[in-house]
Amino acid sequence: MGHDRGTLASLGADTRAVHAGERAEPNPVIPTTTPIYQTSSFSYRSTDELDRVFDDNSAGYVYTRYGNPTIRALEQAVATLEGTEDAVAFPSGMAAIAAALMAIASGGDTVLASQDVYGATFALIQNELRRFGVTGQFVNVLDLADLERTARERKPAAILVETISNPLLRVADIPAIATIARNAGATLIVDNTFATPVLVNPAALGADLVIHSTTKYLGGHGDVTGGVIATNANAGRRLREQAKLNGAVAGPFDAWLTLRGIKTLPLRMRHQCASAATIADWLARHGLIERVYYPGMSAPLPEGQFHDGRGGAMVSFEIRDAGREEVFAFLDALQLCVPATTLGDVYSLVLYPAMSSHRALTPEQRASIGISESLVRLSVGIENVEDIMNDLDQALEACHRIPA
Ligand SMILES: Cc1ncc(COP(=O)(O)O)c(C=O)c1O
Repeated sequence: MGHDRGTLASLGADTRAVHAGERAEPNPVIPTTTPIYQTSSFSYRSTDELDRVFDDNSAGYVYTRYGNPTIRALEQAVATLEGTEDAVAFPSGMAAIAAALMAIASGGDTVLASQDVYGATFALIQNELRRFGVTGQFVNVLDLADLERTARERKPAAILVETISNPLLRVADIPAIATIARNAGATLIVDNTFATPVLVNPAALGADLVIHSTTKYLGGHGDVTGGVIATNANAGRRLREQAKLNGAVAGPFDAWLTLRGIKTLPLRMRHQCASAATIADWLARHGLIERVYYPGMSAPLPEGQFHDGRGGAMVSFEIRDAGREEVFAFLDALQLCVPATTLGDVYSLVLYPAMSSHRALTPEQRASIGISESLVRLSVGIENVEDIMNDLDQALEACHRIPA
């Protein structure tokens, strides 16, 4: 299918322009890093060969919606990090969550989810799945007795929890929840975005599907949107077949960026977690801080769940005597930390849940799940920790100087 220069030379200029340089025979050299296969389809020397690949996807690639070498490389990297047989990439974290729920729940089923899952996950279950006859029920997964009772009564098709919740950074006891899910015949889906595979491997603790918004720590640089599900070979096949049909397929360039980000994930996490622990300790002693939320700080981390006992790189805190106006003044005074609606980047990022992630709730509803008007969420970046603390310190001073 490749055109040598001799054959092309005898053809018209328009033909040469469109075919020159394309479809060269595979070169025996092996690139050191995975190239970006920015192509929507793949051609073969013979139709016989193409026919074989159509039969068995694993033998090659036909069309990028079915599979692509760059996307496959990312999937293999995530499966390796999560210790699963397979992984399937998606164009966003939400696409991965939607695919997982669609693969498991049918009309008449119940999905049991943590009451403090990410807002879009909550809305997806509550509003969208409901239209297909799937009932969402939300529980406090820290209350294992209530979770067990609800699961026994409702027999949900799936239980969905986050390893570390947003924004109060509550830690789910995954082995205990896995036992509850198994006894109820439910598939356990764990969103491991906040913890990353560097801290926790939910599949080893009994999760069936492990999801990441790779937009966050795995990508790590704030320049790509993506998602992934790490799981066993059977579920991987099912999810891939489904993705072929609903078209929720990651782009090769985004997959490549994510793969590139993953190379430094453990280094970044090590640094960011160490800085977050330092910042959490410092904030807890700061006169202008009411309360600090950091995994492992007020209650021990669940036994054997976190590698090396690191509690993550997110810290949430309440500013003393602050309401919306003071928090706005704090955010506006920051010079280094970036107010932005994301997390997990190399940059330190701050978010005001009452204004962004939990904006749709009333102050009373927010209060009922523990989110106060003075709560700020910090995603600790890779900057020097002293610079981050100095920036927070001067912004805290500035917000307390605003006239009453
Ligand atoms: C825990 C968690 N899961 C899933 C998502 C959704 O990911 P995405 O924005 O890549 O769709 C987010 C986004 O903030 C998140 O925080």
